Amino acid sequence: MTNHNLFNLDGQVAIVTGASAGIGLAISELLSSLGAKVAMVDKNPDVVTQAEKMPSHCLGITADLSEIDKMPALIDRVVNTFGRLDILVNNAGIGILEPVLEVKQQSWDATLLINLTAPYFLSQAAGKVMTQQKYGRIVNIASQASVIALENHAAYCTSKAGLVIASKVLAAELGKYGITVNCISPTVVETELGKRYWHGERAEEMKAKIPVGRFATPEEIASAVAYLISKQAGIITGENMIIDGGYTII
Ligand SMILES: NC(=O)c1ccc[n+]([C@@H]2O[C@H](COP(=O)([O-])OP(=O)(O)OC[C@H]3O[C@@H](n4cnc5c(N)ncnc54)[C@H](O)[C@@H]3O)[C@@H](O)[C@H]2O)c1
Repeated sequence: MTNHNLFNLDGQVAIVTGASAGIGLAISELLSSLGAKVAMVDKNPDVVTQAEKMPSHCLGITADLSEIDKMPALIDRVVNTFGRLDILVNNAGIGILEPVLEVKQQSWDATLLINLTAPYFLSQAAGKVMTQQKYGRIVNIASQASVIALENHAAYCTSKAGLVIASKVLAAELGKYGITVNCISPTVVETELGKRYWHGERAEEMKAKIPVGRFATPEEIASAVAYLISKQAGIITGENMIIDGGYTII
């Protein structure tokens, strides 16, 4: 008999970064409700109490992902707590928006560090566990900015395009171990990060260019993660799933 509960995650262990707010919180809530034990990582210490309120056994970890040398220890802590690691969702990200002629090196470096270097090295550390297990699912939250130029987004677009190609190389090398690596690239999502730039007249102008006429919700992005981490999605790897209400098709 076919199991129709395609998205059940009982017995699986996930890490979600940037889990204290916005898209990361929505992903953590959905994965926990599907039965996964979730290690919720964020630099905001509120993540510890947020994890305690989740429907499954979850662990809140306060960590600054700019500390790249601590990535292996972060993975070890999760494996020591829950005994395995099946899913990594690299969601934490920042956006520092400046016109191309005014981009500061400090903003450029900070953006690439959090949006590209951190997810890469966390994937590398997780990949060492997943290859032993011969199973894993990695999903990286990129952006529509990975495939189109947005004004004032030079560092952000570059970081997200880099994340997409890094994910493809990880996917190519890790596929033989039962590990898939994919990106999700949303349009503007209604979160603090999204609203900080896209509000007022600028938001209305943007929505007018999106065929469905609105921004995405964090829950819509979380649902796509649930699909890509399901066992049924094992044939999908190296993909960049664009969830943009049609913004990039016209
Ligand atoms: N909101 C949008 O419009 C939108 C659109 C496309 C892609 N994205 C991407 O989705 C992801 C999540 O965005 P969001 O809108 O939920 O953002 P958000 O700002 O609402 O939440 C991001 C979370 O990441 C955490 N974080 C940031 N830097 C960190 C660090 N150095 N170490 C640990 N935690 C850190 C923050 O504390 C926060 O809880 C990001 O990668 C973003 O680039 C967002």
